[in-house]
Amino acid sequence: MKHLIDPTDLTKQEIDEIISLAQDIIAHRERYQGSMSHKKLATLFYEPSTRTRLSFTSAMMELGGNVLGFSDARSSSVSKGESVQDTVRVVGCFADVIAMRHHIEGAQLYATEVSTVPIINAGDGSHSHPTQTLTDLLTIQRELGHIDGITIGFCGDLRFGRTVHSLIKALSRYKDIKVILIAPDELKLPDYIKQDVCERTGIPYREVATMEEVMGELDVLYMTRVQKERFLDEDEFDRVKDSFVLDAARMSLAKKKMAVLHPLPRVNEILTEVDADPRAAYFRQVENGKFVREALIVKLLEWKDDPEHGMPADETPVEDPELRCPNKKCICNNEHAPHRFRRTENGVLRCWYCDSKVR
Ligand code: NCD
Repeated sequence: MKHLIDPTDLTKQEIDEIISLAQDIIAHRERYQGSMSHKKLATLFYEPSTRTRLSFTSAMMELGGNVLGFSDARSSSVSKGESVQDTVRVVGCFADVIAMRHHIEGAQLYATEVSTVPIINAGDGSHSHPTQTLTDLLTIQRELGHIDGITIGFCGDLRFGRTVHSLIKALSRYKDIKVILIAPDELKLPDYIKQDVCERTGIPYREVATMEEVMGELDVLYMTRVQKERFLDEDEFDRVKDSFVLDAARMSLAKKKMAVLHPLPRVNEILTEVDADPRAAYFRQVENGKFVREALIVKLLEWKDDPEHGMPADETPVEDPELRCPNKKCICNNEHAPHRFRRTENGVLRCWYCDSKVR
């Protein structure tokens, strides 16, 4: 069975199939209406969401399927202390596929260990957000006509922005990608993405301190919000909150053919004066999110019993009773998930669930 927890759970070919199906759905919407009748999607949202939850709901409705679930865990048995594994065991009796968002990192991966239906990670803490990645890939494809060969600038909160982490992982599957990281020191990309993704797969990246110095090189500018809710220290948040703002003057430095993406919600990092610029793709990106989620639901249910489309063959986890994951927001420090680890090629030991460096 195929779950989507991390963008690398999909092969490049599977990503291509989902993107092409999404494009076919856009071109022939009537052909797919009703294709999921009698199927049910459960949306389990332990953390706030507008776009992601509603786009899953709208996607399933477009396909003629039904949706059940909760948008506030306080209204479910979670408030009585039910574990995430027990919740998915139960919901698997009622739904054919589950989309789950959780503030605890690794919660969805832990849930797959007992689930009888495909689980889609709709965001886990500041770790991953693979369906936003599919949305971003479809948007780049539609805006520029290609994904290979792009230079993409990521701007803002690269430390806590899970959409950034997942998109960089997925882009490592494409050819001739160049990444430029535009962030203040406090919000730099985590080392595990730089080392395990960029350096291991050979994506050239460079870190710069201002938008101006790279604006003219970019094919895609990926803006992000400063993730206030993930800061432990309010003062640190106040120092960086207005760091990088896109305005019309900065847009005038960019190429004529270029796309500005943002997973949204935006706060103040893109001024509304940019919205009318034809390169501002963020509201088109929202709609792409619905189409790509339709395609994903169709594919996951099609692949469910197909041995050709399982999860990638995993390394055996390293178990060591002496070691603990240092991340307080990881599932193994919040539920009874085992502390287990994965050794990366450069010899670093990382948490199996949240990728934090352990040793
Ligand atoms: C993002 C998220 O939730 O990670 N939004 C989204 O899913 N479209 C980005 C954010 O919250 O800033």
